[in-house]
Amino acid sequence: MGIYDDFLKNNESLFKNEYALDYNFVPKIVPYREAQQRYLASCIRPLLADHSGRNVLIHGPPGVGKTAALKHLIKELEESDELYDKLEIIYVNCWHKNTTYKIALEICDIIGYAFVQNKNTEDLFKIIEQIINKKAAIFIFDEIDKSEDTDFLYILAENILRKSIFLVTNYKSWIHELDDRIRSRLLLEQIEFPQYNYDEMLGILKQRVEYAFYEGCFSEEELKIIASKASELKDIRIGLFLLKESALIAEEKSSRKVSLEHVQSAIRKIDQFTIKNTDELDDESKAILKIIKDNSGKKIGDLYRIYEKAGGKISYKTFQRKISKLDEGKFISLERTYSGGNTTIVNKKLTEY
Ligand SMILES: Nc1ncnc2c1ncn2[C@@H]1O[C@H](COP(=O)(O)OP(=O)(O)O)[C@@H](O)[C@H]1O
Ligand SMILES: [Mg+2]
Repeated sequence: MGIYDDFLKNNESLFKNEYALDYNFVPKIVPYREAQQRYLASCIRPLLADHSGRNVLIHGPPGVGKTAALKHLIKELEESDELYDKLEIIYVNCWHKNTTYKIALEICDIIGYAFVQNKNTEDLFKIIEQIINKKAAIFIFDEIDKSEDTDFLYILAENILRKSIFLVTNYKSWIHELDDRIRSRLLLEQIEFPQYNYDEMLGILKQRVEYAFYEGCFSEEELKIIASKASELKDIRIGLFLLKESALIAEEKSSRKVSLEHVQSAIRKIDQFTIKNTDELDDESKAILKIIKDNSGKKIGDLYRIYEKAGGKISYKTFQRKISKLDEGKFISLERTYSGGNTTIVNKKLTEY
């Protein structure tokens, strides 16, 4: 059989909808997050009775469904006839829009105001205020810790009459960096999205398999192995990656089903980029890891000084790179703080949530 015959055979894809494995895909339901969604819905309910809503800091480690749950909530609100005319929904990702001015432009875009040219931040917020104050509003600022300033929060807190503001972050400690003036105006409540356990990860992956693949591609056994790996590495995204990767491997082998062997090959790919065993670290990284263990919770600059004093020779840049590698390998965890500019705090193991 020629190579093209193989290609033809491969045309029979295992994937029904590959996009369902994308990290941005919003599933129809977001299981294990019902309580959080109910709570958030209760925070915006007063808006419908012409009262002000509650403001919330939503926190939890990466990949625990914070964005997915909020996007889902937004979808439900948008689909509800009762709310449609009453509520302006503003979702901004502060990774992409990371200054008050950029956020003002984004809000204008969302509410359909186009004449933004030659207007400064103050002008823009005046207009935003006029338009939004005809209704009630819910503001969601995802990845709020990536924003370079938080003036917009003060402006919204002061000038928007009926609103709920949701701030989303992977770092609970971010709240301490928030200006007192803003904090006292927002009176933020807090809700945590905890890490998923093995059973929850398995449940999420099973749901995703139904969206993404034709029936019978994965058996329970393979899914369990993938869920174990994801739960070992505390990251559902690893699970999504493994589903896709092992199915691609199966297709390459012209197989109609994903086998144990395909899953194992996919797992080997992950092991290449997650170091687990300190034996695999170079000597310099081992020395740095020891310093971190003895000085957990210090800023990266301070650690570098300790390292230099102990006779370390590599440059600060290389030092930072090695610290990032240790973070990727999950030997340590990094935490950003904001006292006088961004700094990184290095902790000896994963931040416990
Ligand atoms: N409870 C869940 N049900 C279904 N998919 C989920 C769930 N939690 C997370 N996911 C999926 O995992 C990935 C990461 O979730 P995400 O909401 O982006 O995490 P976070 O915003 O907390 O970092 C996304 O693809 C998301 O769809
Ligand atoms: Mg997110």
